[in-house]
Amino acid sequence: MSNAAHLTGLHTSVMPNEVLAHLDAARGGTFIDCTLGLGGHSELILDASPDTRVIAFDRDAEVIALAQERLVRFGERFRAIHDDYRSLKQHLEGQQFTGILADLGVSSWQLDTPERGFSFRTNSLAPPSQSHSTFPLDMRMDRSGGQTAAHFVNSLSERELADLIFEYGEERASRRIARRIVQERAKAPIETTAQLADLVIRAINQKGYWRIHPATRTFQALRIAVNRELDGFPQFIAEAVDLLAENGTLVVLTFHSLEDRLIKQAFRFQAGQCVCPASQPFCSCGTQPRVELLTRKALLPSNEETAANPRARSAKLRACRKRPTRPEE
Ligand SMILES: C[S@@+](CC[C@H](N)C(=O)[O-])C[C@H]1O[C@@H](n2cnc3c(N)ncnc32)[C@H](O)[C@@H]1O
Repeated sequence: MSNAAHLTGLHTSVMPNEVLAHLDAARGGTFIDCTLGLGGHSELILDASPDTRVIAFDRDAEVIALAQERLVRFGERFRAIHDDYRSLKQHLEGQQFTGILADLGVSSWQLDTPERGFSFRTNSLAPPSQSHSTFPLDMRMDRSGGQTAAHFVNSLSERELADLIFEYGEERASRRIARRIVQERAKAPIETTAQLADLVIRAINQKGYWRIHPATRTFQALRIAVNRELDGFPQFIAEAVDLLAENGTLVVLTFHSLEDRLIKQAFRFQAGQCVCPASQPFCSCGTQPRVELLTRKALLPSNEETAANPRARSAKLRACRKRPTRPEE
C-alpha cells in the first residue's frame, strides 16, 4: 500500500468514467481541476495518459495537503493552487487548456471530519437525537478567513435566517427553525454543531421515522451561505470557456437542484441560447454561440454507482465543448 492509498477510501470520486470520457483525457494535454478535494478525479486524469498535466484549485488547505501526498508520484505533471476556483482566470490568463472540471460542493472527507463543523453525527448506531457531535459550528472550506456558520446563526435576523434556510436548504419548516434559533441564542450563543442539530429537532418536532435527519437541510443551507457556493456561476463558466482551447471540454458535476439550475442556465448562455425571461418580448442577453452542449439533459450516475456510493445519488453531470473560432469571427 502506498503512503496515500488510505486516502482513496475517504472520498469516492463521482461519475469517474463519464467525467473522463467527456474530458477525453486520454488525448493528453493540460487540464484544470477546479475542485481538487482529495485528488480522485485529478488522479484519473493523470493516469489516463502520460501526456496529461493537471493544475488544480481548492479553497481548503488541508485537502490540498492530502491530495499532494496522493499525487506526489506524478511530479511536475501536477500543481495545486490554494484559492477559490472563481479566480482561475487571474492565475491562468493567457494560457489554453484541453479540459476543465468542476465537481462542486464539499468532499466526503470534509463532511466526515467532525472538527470541520459541516455535519452533526458521529455515532451512526445511536438514535439521531443522542448522536450529535459537539464541535464548533464552523463550515468554512477555507479556514484562513471569512465568517463561520456560528457567526451567521448568531447574527442574522429571524427573517434573514428563515429566508436563508428556505432558499438554500429548501426547508419548509424554515420559519419555525429560525424562530427557535432566535429564542435559543437569546439564552446563550449557539456555538456547536450539536446545539444547532438539537434545536432543529425540537423546532420541527417531527415524530416517527426520519428519511433524512431533520437538521440536514438547515446544515446544507448554512454551508452554502458560509462558502457563497452559489455566487458567480455565470462569470466562472464564461471565464472557463475563455481558457479552453478549441474543442476543449468543460465538465461540471452538481449535487443539488439550485446549483444545477444555475449551471444549466450558464451553459445555455454560452451555447448561444437566449436566457432572457420568457415574459420579455425581445432578447437583450447578448448571447453568442461559443460552445456546443454535449449533454442536452444532465447525465445521472448509474444505479450500480449510487448503490456503491450513496453520496453520488444527487449528482448531475453537464458538459460542453468549445467551438472552433471561424476566421471571420
Ligand atoms: C466534491 S469535492 C471534490 C472531490 C474530487 N473531485 C475528488 O475526486 O476527490 C469538492 C472540493 O471542492 C472544494 N471547493 C468547493 N468550492 C470551491 C471553490 N469555490 N473554490 C475552490 N475550491 C472549492 C472543496 O473544498 C472540496 O475539497
